[in-house]
Amino acid sequence: MPRMTVNERPLEFALDPATPLLWALRDAANLTGTKYGCGVGDCGACMVIVDGAALRSCLVTIGEAEGRNIVTIEGLSRDRSHPVQQALVAEQAIQCGFCTPGIALAAAALLAANPSPGEAEIRAAVPNLCRCGVYPRLVRAIERAGRVARREETIGAAPPPGIGAQDAARAVPALGEGEERP
Ligand code: FES
Ligand code: FES
Repeated sequence: MPRMTVNERPLEFALDPATPLLWALRDAANLTGTKYGCGVGDCGACMVIVDGAALRSCLVTIGEAEGRNIVTIEGLSRDRSHPVQQALVAEQAIQCGFCTPGIALAAAALLAANPSPGEAEIRAAVPNLCRCGVYPRLVRAIERAGRVARREETIGAAPPPGIGAQDAARAVPALGEGEERP
């Protein structure tokens, strides 16, 4: 029964330790912000942050994730206030949005390690595939998120989620209730 911390909450999965983390998050924990794209490590749609590093959750088993600290898009911020989320919205770097959670987490892990990445570093650290082709806007958004994280710029808050924290917690028990946005 692998145990780990997901979005600051302890979780124990009653699943085979060989189960991919992606399936455990989506199907057992109902954290469906983590997307299934290719299943073989190519697209990055399934990226989560594991102990500070962006990893493809389709390639990690829950046995390998035992005892580790996982952040999914639901845990990056509860009110879309993370600089990467703000900048992705402000730069309109989202079209269908399918790739966006994985990109946001890869970018967040990059900025946590390197608050001033250049374009080449961004492209290397965020290799996620986007079938809608948002790449130019993506680089601009991550550079802007870096400026926000460094407090060189502020961005007006993105629209609040269309669901309150308590309703979200009822729909997704693994999230906990969190704080309602004022
Ligand atoms: S689903 Fe994991 S990399 Fe594509
Ligand atoms: S915005 Fe559609 S796949 Fe990237």
